[in-house]
Amino acid sequence: MNRESRSAPPAGSDALSFADRPGPRLSSIMIRAPASVRVLSLAILLAGGAEGVRAQSPTGSTPDPCTRASAGPRTASTDLYCMVLTAPLGLGRDVEARVDLRFAASPFTVAVTADGNVRYDATLTVRGLPDPGELGTDDAGRPYTTYVAWLTTPTFYPETRLQEVRNGVVELGRIALDKFVLLVSAEVAPDVVERSGRLVLRGQSPSTRMYPADMMEYLVGAGGIDVGADPGGGMGGMHHVHGGDGWLRPPMPEGITMLPALMELEAPEAAPWLPGAADPESIPWVRPRELVELADGDTLALEATYVRRRLRGGTHIVYGFNGQIPGPLIQVHEAATITVRFTNRIDWPTTVHWHGIRIDNASDGVPHLTQEPVAPGGSFTYTVHVPDAGIYWYHPHHREDIQKDLGLAGNLMVRPARADYYGPVHREEVVVLDDILMNGDALVPFGRERANDALMGRFGNLFLLNGEPEYRIEVEQGEVVRFFLTNVSNTRTFNLSFGGAPMKIVGSDIGLYEREAWTESVVLAPAERAIVHVRFPAAGELPIENRVTGMDHLGGRFFPEVDRLGTVTVRHDVKLPDLAGPFTTLREHLFVQEDIDRVRGEFDRPVDHELLLTMEQEGLPFVVERLMRVDSAYFHPVEWSGTMPMMNWNATSAEVRWVLRDPATGREGMDIAWELPLGAVRKIRVHNERRAFHAMQHPLHIHGQRFLVLSVNGVPTDNLVWKDTVLVPVGATVDLLLELSNPGAWMMHCHISEHLEAGMHSAFTVR
Ligand code: C2O
Ligand code: CU
Repeated sequence: MNRESRSAPPAGSDALSFADRPGPRLSSIMIRAPASVRVLSLAILLAGGAEGVRAQSPTGSTPDPCTRASAGPRTASTDLYCMVLTAPLGLGRDVEARVDLRFAASPFTVAVTADGNVRYDATLTVRGLPDPGELGTDDAGRPYTTYVAWLTTPTFYPETRLQEVRNGVVELGRIALDKFVLLVSAEVAPDVVERSGRLVLRGQSPSTRMYPADMMEYLVGAGGIDVGADPGGGMGGMHHVHGGDGWLRPPMPEGITMLPALMELEAPEAAPWLPGAADPESIPWVRPRELVELADGDTLALEATYVRRRLRGGTHIVYGFNGQIPGPLIQVHEAATITVRFTNRIDWPTTVHWHGIRIDNASDGVPHLTQEPVAPGGSFTYTVHVPDAGIYWYHPHHREDIQKDLGLAGNLMVRPARADYYGPVHREEVVVLDDILMNGDALVPFGRERANDALMGRFGNLFLLNGEPEYRIEVEQGEVVRFFLTNVSNTRTFNLSFGGAPMKIVGSDIGLYEREAWTESVVLAPAERAIVHVRFPAAGELPIENRVTGMDHLGGRFFPEVDRLGTVTVRHDVKLPDLAGPFTTLREHLFVQEDIDRVRGEFDRPVDHELLLTMEQEGLPFVVERLMRVDSAYFHPVEWSGTMPMMNWNATSAEVRWVLRDPATGREGMDIAWELPLGAVRKIRVHNERRAFHAMQHPLHIHGQRFLVLSVNGVPTDNLVWKDTVLVPVGATVDLLLELSNPGAWMMHCHISEHLEAGMHSAFTVR
């Protein structure tokens, strides 16, 4: 069995080789299924794998119109952001058509609806269409006079008319469907409302390549296998699935197609670890976050400590800064300098990083780059000077996958010097968004020697807003609230909304956008911040929700995922000063525009440096590797939720290597070592490699400086804001303008904690 499966060469696999691997792990997938099923399943998986490889390496003599139109090897993926439309037989000449899918304009690098569907602006480029009259007449004998484009679903219902089409370039408009089909037909009149004429072109969205892997239904059985399914609607299962290896497995989200072989995976290559204590009763209960207002020159004592907390009825030992989750909300004025005397009272070495602050390099908190880690019991003094107004945060920078996830994260609010910096609101709320991974009432352990969940990062299944599973606020009718949102989760990108309450985006990582803008939802990747104004016009209860498109990878389907994160109760009839007027006015932030004007002349400079984001693996279990090859036929721009928990759980940084590469030198990781001149700007092109073994979005964070996201997939950003973290969607290319304002040795890395642990980091020097 082993021999057969390992020696069967996948057809057309010249571009990607299947690494050989040791036998023991391989045998572990074969348990339970009868022999006939095993042979069948491997045949299917291999066939699927070959499909994946074909999709990844479009070869052949004539490049398709998407490949030919591509602006280069490291621009937008032609495979994910371009569709080839083909003509059915019998059109009698060469017609060539492609549709380019661009993210619609948005304050975020990926545009989505409130439900989490990606919003594309579609452009059709077509040549070779004959004069429609040459195609004859319809059934009623009326001659065709024009062409019309239609949007439909893979089941061809319903169909929507898009645009009249001719040879050349036609804007088809906006599309926000998870899977779709585009058609062009010859019609008797341009204004037909239903397609009735002859079909001349058709094409399927890249996402339709995600289809059910054959036979999966059979392998899984008719729902008869208990895989510790999560009965709580995706909010965590009640089964404790313990292996004999001491690991508690993550629960399966409900309704996801699952292979029994995956449930039999051996434990990750790491010992299971959670904080413990000889005398748990002596550990203090967690306290809610406190506001600490500091003046220029003040000192704060900050400790990383053990705390006890209850979650889902279980009692857990976790971490907190000064006994609080989130850590104290430190509030200072712009341009102040404070001293933070930090003491490490947990069992790991650690450091404190001041995320987003253009801080003095010696206080940046990066182990082995700016300081040695603070040993348990040790201390370190940070000098925190805050040059920019806005919302920032602090967290450990050593085994962040564990320490941050267990509660070590807090906000640093920098109050602006300008009185008119923000528009008027009734109140402010500072909200930390997080999730934590539980199985029943227990925490799922972490890998001790190295991070597990190394493929997609550790997705939690219990959402925490300011540390609370049931976050609630009360507001009055008509109240306008300024929310400062920070995503501190290990890997989850949120798509947040307030039950349809009108919302405008005001600021991001480092201060304000050039102008305020309406938005249906806030897309927030790990480490990013958003400042939004929300008005609650009607009394009642509104949910705070994360609405995304989940992916059932094996089932080949998208599904709407709605996570309730909290509740806003809007009280009736209380009289507040009315701010409806200022709320509905979108402000221009002239001081931001003027600040950006200083570098606007550099926007068109050539690309100075490139960075490639990719991944390599060696030694993943056979079944995982095969399934991931099936899955690589399509990657979504954003992997919103953890729908492959077993494969992910099993993978550690020993098998998975996430890579930052400088394509100009071929150097990777810490070897990239750019030397950049202080006072200059540099254009950095970042490309997220779609052809990686597994591709996923990466929130790329750059320490110590600030940058602008100039363009995404070649489309210029129309409303700029200074950033320290950028969400780079799968297969996408973003151009950054990095301002070099702060000397020192600085890190850049993916802010998915497990990707950071699995090698996705680098450093550069500014002098
Ligand atoms: Cu918030 Cu290097 O990290
Ligand atoms: Cu990453």
